[in-house]
Amino acid sequence: MSIFWIGEKINMAAEILVTGVPGNVGSEVVAGLIRLGIPFRVGLFDLRAPHPEYAEQVEIIHFDFLKPETHRPAFEGIKRLFLVRPPALANVERDIAPALRTAIDCGVEHIVFLSIQGVENNRIVPHHKIEQIIEESGVKFTFLRASFFMQNLSTTQASKIRNHNEIALPVGNAKTSFIDVRDIGAVAVCALTDPQHENKKYTLTGQEALDYHQVAGKLTAILHRPIHYSDPSVFRFIYHQLRSGHQLGYALVVAGLYTITRFGNAKQVSQDVQRVLGRSPISFDQFVRDYRDCWQNG
Ligand SMILES: NC(=O)c1ccc[n+]([C@@H]2O[C@H](COP(=O)([O-])OP(=O)(O)OC[C@H]3O[C@@H](n4cnc5c(N)ncnc54)[C@H](OP(=O)(O)O)[C@@H]3O)[C@@H](O)[C@H]2O)c1
Repeated sequence: MSIFWIGEKINMAAEILVTGVPGNVGSEVVAGLIRLGIPFRVGLFDLRAPHPEYAEQVEIIHFDFLKPETHRPAFEGIKRLFLVRPPALANVERDIAPALRTAIDCGVEHIVFLSIQGVENNRIVPHHKIEQIIEESGVKFTFLRASFFMQNLSTTQASKIRNHNEIALPVGNAKTSFIDVRDIGAVAVCALTDPQHENKKYTLTGQEALDYHQVAGKLTAILHRPIHYSDPSVFRFIYHQLRSGHQLGYALVVAGLYTITRFGNAKQVSQDVQRVLGRSPISFDQFVRDYRDCWQNG
């Protein structure tokens, strides 16, 4: 397999594997590594999807958590792994652990794992078990315990906002310290390329905690039309998740996370992004300005 960088063949072998591409955070990690000119391999779940524009610059290999035959070829020669648990995979022992153990068996030395804020006190989310497996294996790790993504509003919530001017989440008046996935990607790139981040557990949040009335207010101000927040019951929320085609396991994990948020567990603001990147996290207002086209309905 060849490695290309800006159209020119180079002799360095890729020692980094990025999973979760073309997802929210994985895409940012890819962009960051390309900017730095660091060779890496992408473990792509859907090889039939149109290849991204960077395909000529990096190694691309098929990787599917649920297909063990794709694991070893993806991990051979890899030292550092950016690991994303796909949201649909909720059974860690069955769906995630086999790939994780093969990675370590193949010689992966450092795993940068996209985890979740508050995971240390929450045994229900799959990330808790994944962190435990990684830590107990003795491999080096960096846990990126991220708060709720600002980009949830420009992806999973976008059509509701665009078509009904509404955000419908079972969170009540609780606050969330939203983070921009561009900041998570930037921290992940630091962790993958600088040993000072080995064996660290970072809590990654934005610079402020907002409730969803404030979120709706910020969208209203920047989009110049009223956006309102409704607070459905958790049962109604699950019902809508299932009706929109999500699996029950996924719907329950997401509902569980919003329920935890409702009790104030997502409001902690951390300085870890500032410490790692040496700059403030991207603000919520900046996020809304940058993504405003997602919510335009005409
Ligand atoms: N959303 C939040 O607010 C939030 C906050 C903290 C932590 N997290 C955690 O972050 C993770 C999700 O990150 P994200 O939003 O960047 O991901 P994402 O956008 O949902 O993308 C997931 C990626 O995984 C790929 N994938 C799906 N099934 C796969 C399989 N069987 N094997 C290998 N790859 C597979 C998908 O490929 P295709 O695109 O080809 O389908 C996609 O590229 C989850 O673990 C979530 O719990 C989320």
